[in-house]
Formats: sequence, C-alpha cells, structure tokens
Amino acid sequence: LNTITYAQKTAEVTPISEKALNSILEKNRAYYTQGKVADYIPELGKMDAKAIAFSVVDKSGKVYNTGDVSKKFTMQSISKIIALMIAVNEKGEANVFDKMGYYGTDKPFNHFGNLETMGKPLNPMMNAGAILTTSLISGDGEKPFVKVLEMVRYITKNQSIDYSKSVYESEKATGHRNRGMFYIMKNSGLISGNEDQLDNYFRQCSIEVTAEDLAKIGYFFANQCTRFDGDITYKNAETAKLIESQMLTAGMYEFSGEYSRTVGLPSKSGVGGGITVSVPGKMGIGVFSPSLDQHGNSFAGYHMILDLVKQYGLSIF
Ligand code: DON
Repeated sequence: LNTITYAQKTAEVTPISEKALNSILEKNRAYYTQGKVADYIPELGKMDAKAIAFSVVDKSGKVYNTGDVSKKFTMQSISKIIALMIAVNEKGEANVFDKMGYYGTDKPFNHFGNLETMGKPLNPMMNAGAILTTSLISGDGEKPFVKVLEMVRYITKNQSIDYSKSVYESEKATGHRNRGMFYIMKNSGLISGNEDQLDNYFRQCSIEVTAEDLAKIGYFFANQCTRFDGDITYKNAETAKLIESQMLTAGMYEFSGEYSRTVGLPSKSGVGGGITVSVPGKMGIGVFSPSLDQHGNSFAGYHMILDLVKQYGLSIF
C-alpha cells in the first residue's frame, strides 16, 4: 500500500484517450501469468488466458477501447447486478432484503455463508443471494432470464447479445454446489419455485458480452440508471445507489475491503474474467482478462483499473 501513489483529485490530468488506455493495458498485460483461468465450469477452462481488453465510457457517453475489444466472454457474476435491479424494481427493496442481508463478507463467492445458521444469504452478490434474487423475478419458465437478457441488451444498446448455450449446459451439469444452496433455500421457504429458477441463474451467468458492454453497464449504474446515450427509461437514483453500494461492499467478494482501499470504486467481477466499474456521476469502465486471482477476480483486470484510478484520481474517497 505504501508504494501506491495517487494523482490528486484536483491535479491536471491528461484526458482519457485510447493511447492512454493502451499504455495501461500493455503495462499490465503480463499479469495473466500470475493467475489461473476458471475451470470449475469446464467450458470456461477453454478461454484464451492471453486475451485482454480495456474499455471506458466517459461522462459524455463517448467510448474508448483498446485490446481484444471484440472478444466475447460470459458475464458470470456481473449478471447479478442486473438481476438485482430487476428484482428490486418489481418487488421493492424492502421485500428483497427481507430475504437476504446487506452484509460484506470474508468468504468466497460460492460459500454457503450463514445459510444454515441465520437462514438467509449474506448479500445478493454471493451465489446464494444471487440465486435467490433471480428466483424473485416474476414470470414462469425462462421469463426471468429473458428479462435479464433484455435488460443487458437495453443498457448496452446491443441487440446482438445472447447467452452461450455451451457454458450454460456446462454449468448446469456441474453446478451442484449452487444446486445445494438452491435446495437449502427452498427447504427454508425462501425460494418457492422449481429448478427452472436455478437454470435461469445459470443462463444469466452465460450471457456473452465484450469489455465495451461492461463499460456501458458501469456507466448506467454510475449515472442513476441513465443509459450512455442519455436514454432515461429506467432512470432511478435510489436503485443505482443500492446497486453501487452492494458492488462496493461485496462486488469483489472477500477482496472487497482491500479493493475499496486501493481502487475505491463500486465494481463487480465475474469468473469469465470481466470486471465492470462505476465511477459515480461520471464514467463506466469495463475490463477483460480471464486469468483470475485467488478470489476469482481478473488479475490483470484489477491492475488495469488500479492504474487508471491512480492516474486520473478516480477513487470516491
Ligand atoms: O455460480 C457460479 O459459480 C458462476 N456462474 C458465477 C461465479 C462468479 O462469477 C464469481 N465471480 N467472480
């Protein structure tokens, strides 16, 4: 920590440019060698560990891209913030958080947390709370998943976004730990539906995006649920505050505290190697590099975000 130097918030900084992003990317490219591509979902293990992309959407909605920006990867846990937004908009925050906590965590993303003892998931960012959140979205069969997919398409203004059937099938076939959580919550009455609801969670995790799509999602929550092109169909300052606060508290799981200290921005990672970042009232950042650290967060992705934050004084603190 002592070695980190930050730009002063008031200091003159060079404007964001693709050249500036590219030099940050190149500086951090080699970090992939220090991590590992997730393979507990077998299909994810096929990802190219060397792929790397960096994208920023500035306050005006202008997009800056560098690296493998056309490379698609699955959102995985980043889909949890979209599902939370939809559940809260439908049911109201009080009804959703009656069933789970606002807690931070010292536990990994797939930990059962206090499901057995207190009975409720710690937060909507860890798998248990996220599976429950998706089950709270109204509609039969695939409908809740389709709502998540449609919302991702809306936020990114990218109708070509779809989910990867092979990643979905792979997780459905191997996701027994998530299945265990699903049934514990069904047993305690928190979940009332059938396994279609778990499938909707697996499907939403398999939605394929690019780093640019993630930057646009970051922008959306940074700007009171206003889309990067100014569309205000879903504008809602309170929902955005809730999502950003959960991202800050638990979006990087047990690394969230240290991440808050070093980066200081609401962020959400996924084991596909993406991280989406909101710079409140300002920009969105999207990174991609599938080699993960011990917490399941993108190794090079974290370092690219950290360098951008240091260079431009972006921490909220
Ligand atoms: O449920 C799972 O394990 C995955 N579909 C998502 C986990 C995840 O992305 C954790 N984030 N870093």
